[in-house]
Amino acid sequence: RNPVQISPSILSADFANLAAEAEAVRGADWLHVDVMDNHFVPNLTLGLPVVESLRKATATPLDCHLMIEDPDRWAPQYAEAGASSVTFHVEAAAAPVRLARELRAQGARASMALRPATPIEPYEDLLPELDMVLIMTVEPGFGGQAFLDVMLPKIRRTRRLIERHGLQLWLQVDGGVSATTIERCAEAGADVFVAGSAVYGADDPSAAVAALRERAES
Ligand code: DX5
Ligand code: ZN
Repeated sequence: RNPVQISPSILSADFANLAAEAEAVRGADWLHVDVMDNHFVPNLTLGLPVVESLRKATATPLDCHLMIEDPDRWAPQYAEAGASSVTFHVEAAAAPVRLARELRAQGARASMALRPATPIEPYEDLLPELDMVLIMTVEPGFGGQAFLDVMLPKIRRTRRLIERHGLQLWLQVDGGVSATTIERCAEAGADVFVAGSAVYGADDPSAAVAALRERAES
């Protein structure tokens, strides 16, 4: 079993104070950066210049979650901008294997995300090409949504596939992850936990990260 990792999502942070907000979660394993293009999802957030600036503003590695069309074109540019892990949505990728190989060749971790309605089984043979799979536990687009319990079986099935293939893949969950839902995710086999509102909605974000970690490890 891989160690528990916590990736606070700056989507729930103050976008006018991103450097300070990144600093507020020191001790987190990653900083989760949600890139939305208003096409793949009905919301617009930030892009390459912000990632470049964040890279300089924090020592925490950046975990870029691209909720955008045409990741084949854009994802490598996020690796170039300083993301240590780049997640593309398989629903939007034209050539996911080629894209994953390109990201790895750049020295980034390659990760594939699945919307709630996308099953993992058709992508079983792609797993060796990846460093992480992201199972969305809400419909992507907004922070603060309720955790979808119906995703727990998919988390379990994905963990079983990873084990069956003897892979070292990380399994990330994103959406509605909180002190009340994180244990269910961990029990189902997730090891990297994204949390936006549960971290940045707390009075002390870094204490919230520590509390989530403790629950996931229990
Ligand atoms: C939603 C984003 C998430 C979001 C999670 O589409 O991918 O990363 O920030 O926010 P919470 O943790 O509040 O559900
Ligand atoms: Zn995300």
